Amino acid sequence: MTPPTFFAVEYAINPWMDTSTPVDVARAVDQWQTLRDTYRRLGHTVDIVEPVPGLPDMVYAANAGLIINGTAIVAQFKHAERQGESAAYAAWMGQHGHRPVATRHVNEGQGDLLVVGSTILAGTGFRTQPQAHTEVAAITGMPVVSLELVDPRFYHLDTALTVLDDTTIAYYPPAFTAAARSRLRGLFPEAIEVASTDAYVLGLNAVSDGKHVVYPAQAAGFAEQLYHAGFHPIGVDLAELLKGGGSVKCCTLEVFS
Ligand code: ARG
Repeated sequence: MTPPTFFAVEYAINPWMDTSTPVDVARAVDQWQTLRDTYRRLGHTVDIVEPVPGLPDMVYAANAGLIINGTAIVAQFKHAERQGESAAYAAWMGQHGHRPVATRHVNEGQGDLLVVGSTILAGTGFRTQPQAHTEVAAITGMPVVSLELVDPRFYHLDTALTVLDDTTIAYYPPAFTAAARSRLRGLFPEAIEVASTDAYVLGLNAVSDGKHVVYPAQAAGFAEQLYHAGFHPIGVDLAELLKGGGSVKCCTLEVFS
């Protein structure tokens, strides 16, 4: 995780970002610390990446890459405003024993590359390019399922789909093409489908350890669904970071070893 020390909304690269909305950095830091402490309280290890001035979106660490089996696929950002993050995150990955590898095509890390069991679900349509999905499959040796997104509010896969455990997901069907929806229905017939009210507060931008699901606190309906499915939902308020178009999952780069 990377603290939002230099967080700001000074450019708009997704529909959630409005440069005329004031951002309270102290509040963002406070909310982010609550998220970090929540993970630690659940027994997870949280490593902190040093934030870099002039890279306000660096708090959305999920986009830094995909770290799996000792390899770190480093993000190749679409927008110039974020491209400086790649070097900062690659340095951290190298120092922490994850071998950094680059892709040639745009890939925004765990924003669009979600691991479920031994498969990678890969988003495209707004950020990560389909050619990067092929590169990721070759690097990891894992099957990659491409899913096309259609609604600009759900521009990364992790805004429209949550991996809950090795075989369970939750998602918001209207964010996907008909082809992607039928692919998901085939793979996950028991999936939780969330309502618009929860999707539109980025409720699906959540992190699960297979039991506890840390989710954006405003998504009360999703919490109810999780509870009934046997998970333990834990709401965290990240309203300040929602102004940049991200929430719980965006702030969290998971390390799969
Ligand atoms: N402002 C950032 C962007 O548009 C937000 C990234 C959110 N991250 C995520 N994993 N969905 O790139």
